Amino acid sequence: MGLSIVGTGRHLPKDVATNEDLARVMDTTAEWIHQRTGIVERHFAAEGEGASDLGAEAAKRALARAGMGASDVDYVVMSTMTPDFHFPGPAAMVAAKLGIPGVPCLDVRQQCASFIYQLQLAHALIGAGQARNVLMIGAEAHAGFMPWEDWDYLHGKGGSPPSQDAFDRATRHRGLAILFGDGGGAVVVRKTDDARGVIGVDVHSDGRYVDYIHIPSGFTKRPYARRDDIDNDLHIPRMRGKELFKQAVTKLPESVRTLCARHHVKLDDVDLFVAHQANDRINGAVRDALGLPAHKVPSNIAKLGNTSAATIPILLDELNEQGRLKPGMLICFLALGAGLHWGSALLRT
Ligand code: UT7
Repeated sequence: MGLSIVGTGRHLPKDVATNEDLARVMDTTAEWIHQRTGIVERHFAAEGEGASDLGAEAAKRALARAGMGASDVDYVVMSTMTPDFHFPGPAAMVAAKLGIPGVPCLDVRQQCASFIYQLQLAHALIGAGQARNVLMIGAEAHAGFMPWEDWDYLHGKGGSPPSQDAFDRATRHRGLAILFGDGGGAVVVRKTDDARGVIGVDVHSDGRYVDYIHIPSGFTKRPYARRDDIDNDLHIPRMRGKELFKQAVTKLPESVRTLCARHHVKLDDVDLFVAHQANDRINGAVRDALGLPAHKVPSNIAKLGNTSAATIPILLDELNEQGRLKPGMLICFLALGAGLHWGSALLRT
């Protein structure tokens, strides 16, 4: 008994912001962003467009590619770090948008590492006979916490230049603001009766590093939100970029090595390493640490930025579209994100 990827889909919001656009509203340059991250441009959700909207559109495409109707789905697993509402999570909203209210839905809050945990869950649900067709979704609308207000000015379409205070504020958050982009990705997996599917998963979580990237405003801790939380930008995530970077370049190779050794898989036998795209330099360092050839570690960060929980399903859909997912391949997924949560998974297609 195993599982097979039968459909993938993605949906990107229309608005594209280039590095040059960002340099209009904060102290940075297009070259700095490109050199330090590999990013050239990213998409941003429109006002009022939430993770549930992006996720539902991606899911429709994945279902169409699988040749399935939404009513064939018997479990939805959804991840985002930018939910439409603080609670409830958006999984059930997506199911409602797909016209399948009542189907069981789980919100998996593992941020950039979500896909690895989702795959483990799908494998367990299918293995335990609880589901046959699982819809896995990652979607993000980071635009809501970007530290500027005049989007027209950002795009060079009029508007007014930021005041010195607004410029300084965006600069304070620039590490975060240059990195993230929006989008949705979805993958449909189906139970099979053969050896295809998840070979193994190596996942870890460590709450000691919660402040490496988190939203500091308590929201649900007494005294809930304070009146001045917004003035103090506590609704905008704080990120300790350098420290996160170090965690990623040490923990990811370690996880991949451990997982492959556990399942007697040689790194050379893996056809594709589908990695989260937080920063191209992170993936370069992981590649070097594991001695992997560049063609086995595809990248899409230049055009999309870091799309958090949406990254791996979007990348998988791009690979599928390019005809790079072939039956019988061995894929290793790897990711690290807020929590911290990280890990890797081996899948035979
Ligand atoms: O999705 C999972 C969560 N996120 C991550 O995994 C993020 C991982 N971290 C990173 O990607 C990188 O740490 C960043 C892209 C966020 C920052 O890059 P960095 O190479 O670590 O830069 P840094 O913070 O060490 O800063 C180096 C220099 C500093 O100047 P000084 O002190 O050397 O004079 C910064 O002030 O670059 C400056 N700097 C910038 N300059 C222009 C930092 N950000 C910028 C910027 N534009 N956007």
